Amino acid sequence: MIKYLGSKRTLLPGLAAIFLALPEVRSVLDVFSGTARVGHMAKGLGLRVIANDHNAYSATLARCYVESDAEAVAVEAARLIAELNGLPGRAGYFTATFCERSRYFQPKNGARVDAIRDQIAAWALPPPLESVLLVSLMEAADRVDSTTGVQMAFLKQWAPRAHKELSLRLPAVLPRAVAGPGLALQLDAAAAVAHPAVTGGGLDVAYLDPPYNQHKYLGNYHIWETLVRWDAPEVYGVACKRVDCRSRASAYNGRSAAAPALRALIEAMPARHLVVSFSDEGFITAEELASMLATRGEVLTLEVDFKRYVGAKIGIHNPRGEKVGTVSHLRNRERIFVVTEDAGRLRRALAASPAVAPWLADRAV
Ligand SMILES: C[S@@+](CC[C@H](N)C(=O)[O-])C[C@H]1O[C@@H](n2cnc3c(N)ncnc32)[C@H](O)[C@@H]1O
Repeated sequence: MIKYLGSKRTLLPGLAAIFLALPEVRSVLDVFSGTARVGHMAKGLGLRVIANDHNAYSATLARCYVESDAEAVAVEAARLIAELNGLPGRAGYFTATFCERSRYFQPKNGARVDAIRDQIAAWALPPPLESVLLVSLMEAADRVDSTTGVQMAFLKQWAPRAHKELSLRLPAVLPRAVAGPGLALQLDAAAAVAHPAVTGGGLDVAYLDPPYNQHKYLGNYHIWETLVRWDAPEVYGVACKRVDCRSRASAYNGRSAAAPALRALIEAMPARHLVVSFSDEGFITAEELASMLATRGEVLTLEVDFKRYVGAKIGIHNPRGEKVGTVSHLRNRERIFVVTEDAGRLRRALAASPAVAPWLADRAV
């Protein structure tokens, strides 16, 4: 999967244990799905998953990992991926923008991205199969990029991986879950909770992992948005961001808008249980969130020691790329709040889970 700020890769075993410990769970809505890895995990547990994110690249990841079923797409996707891996490069917009005007990828790989993306567009495939090829290309490009994991800037010196040859692999698409087919939505969170697939289907769990500061995901991953949309947008600045990075907004990136948006989302969420990821570095305090959630049921609080993103690890640098200081800390406190009918019973069930037991602080519940 792609490198992604705030990705819950390391929390997956714990989140899986929580989903399984909650009573009578067959369906999960992931409202801010990002890489779709939480939905992918839940689908692997046999749950019916709806994954939503307002960005097109995330919706494409969800269409591949949540909505597409291996039995329907894997054989044909593998055949097409082999064909795409044999295509010679043909430089176009992607190479000009992200390899010459900026230096996110080596031109030899940029030209292959151009040729492969044009071919995927020319095939005009059904959306599930197309999403698998697009994710295969996104992940291949991610393996040869020259960034620290965000597309706000590229490295002064090429990352060693950037010299490698772009090579597509079949993404880990899962078979259809026993509880029912998955669905990918591309909506603002406020619209997703009102979607008929969410309101009409007896939703068991909603997982909420909203952004927690002013940095827009679209700005951090603008290249994936352009790769998926293939709309050759006008770009600006050294980072060559799409012009719509300036106009497309999320309430969760606003200091004063984030809390009311989350409160309204929690109130409107038609799910029996809520699981909410929370960072102590964001606009909303733990106390505020706990009081929003208390209106919905009993709240169990889990404390997770979570590494800060890779950019923090490399320190603070001046514009010449020289290290001038150190960041204050490399760990922050990530918490998971679970709202359910009986938090005490859930706590006892989770105490037996090796993945979650270390998160059960004495003062939790
Ligand atoms: C912390 S990330 C989620 C990471 C994800 N759980 C994972 O493991 O990959 C937050 C996501 O929320 C999305 N997002 C931000 N504002 C949104 C909004 N108003 N509606 C829907 N999605 C939004 C972003 O595009 C981003 O992918």
